[in-house]
Amino acid sequence: MAPTPADLAGRRVLLHVSGSIAAYKAGEIVTLLRKRGAEVRVAMTHAATRFVSAMTFQSLSGHAVAADPWEPGEGGVAAHGMAHLGLGGWAEVQVVAPASADLIARLALGLADDAVTATALASTAPLLLAPAMETRMWEHPATRANLATLRARGAAVVGPLAGRLASGDEGMGRMAEPAEVVEACAALLGAASAVLAGRRLLVTAGGTREPVDPVRYLGNRSSGRMGNALAAEALGLGASVTLVTTLPPPSAHPRLDVVEVATAAEMLDAVGDALPGADVLVMAAAVADWRPAEPSERKLKKGDTGLRLDLVPTADILLAVRDRAVELGVMVVGFAAETDDLLDNARAKLERKGLELIVANDVAVGMGGEENAVTILGREGVVAEVTRAPKPAVARRVLEIIAARWEARTAG
Ligand code: CTP
Repeated sequence: MAPTPADLAGRRVLLHVSGSIAAYKAGEIVTLLRKRGAEVRVAMTHAATRFVSAMTFQSLSGHAVAADPWEPGEGGVAAHGMAHLGLGGWAEVQVVAPASADLIARLALGLADDAVTATALASTAPLLLAPAMETRMWEHPATRANLATLRARGAAVVGPLAGRLASGDEGMGRMAEPAEVVEACAALLGAASAVLAGRRLLVTAGGTREPVDPVRYLGNRSSGRMGNALAAEALGLGASVTLVTTLPPPSAHPRLDVVEVATAAEMLDAVGDALPGADVLVMAAAVADWRPAEPSERKLKKGDTGLRLDLVPTADILLAVRDRAVELGVMVVGFAAETDDLLDNARAKLERKGLELIVANDVAVGMGGEENAVTILGREGVVAEVTRAPKPAVARRVLEIIAARWEARTAG
């Protein structure tokens, strides 16, 4: 027999299991996905745990299962405060198998009353549903309407099949076979991974540090998480990435080049050097607007009296590369971190810096934290609002919009 290809190596699949006799087949889905190299995490509804124990899925996936939101422990939503946000943000794709009529209804309504629905509601990863239920439930107008709602939001559906059901009746409602569910999941990951294939992204991350003397600098509260998330997600979507960063480099990847910098001037040079090969520049870095005019060559001492720090403006990187970016056909995306008048300030920056898109966030929400909530603006106005979510999920949304624009640009 030919060996199973590890074509899903490193891909992150979140499996939601609901209460149906088909829950026992979900174990095989975990096994098949892992054989193909995917990482699998499992969330279960309470009803699912009545059919198959969480321990079964813990053993098969190698990770604690999110089952009881109130149970302290690795898998509980309450365990790390907001673990469901983490799991939802971690996932590249969510597979709901089996998807019972009840869970489909709760997902359509956007409930967050257990580990599965809370995680799904906090995730922007695409959904794949493998329904399993009795024929009359499948055919009920409520189920039809709920599925239509989920499809309209982009959910994919595999199955169900006609055949013998748990009740002994023959009819529509058997869950698609595990191998078929895994194929559909792989197809979804393939489709998701392709959107930036062949594109080169130039991403900046972190806050610049402007020296005051050999040991001190002027910096800012940027954690670099947003820029790092953009780089990681772009790699996941198939892009090549040049990451110009003030932070220690992330783990190596065959399609990742890292350029480490400290100051705004060094970042400007690095961006200028990488611009000719890039399709898209994403300026997520928090660049200092001023630097000490004359950094001291020796360490300033406590006893030094009459110290003054004279500041001079740094170069605005986006402004400095604007014309060249137009010449080279590079799509430029900026960020705007604001404390007041978010949209007006962001719009003004978009115009002044000649940007295709600007990602605006309130400093109080995004700066330094694990999560962000952003409004994405283009020349035509608001393109998308991303409600509070882990930075990888926000990054993915930004990249999907970039990919769609790139496609429209090349198609036009
Ligand atoms: N930026 C830049 N060069 C700078 C400052 C900022 O390229 N010297 C980029 C940032 O990376 C971001 C965008 O410009 O993509 C907006 O940055 P922000 O700090 O919000 O705005 P500023 O232009 O610095 O304006 P202000 O400080 O007045 O808000």
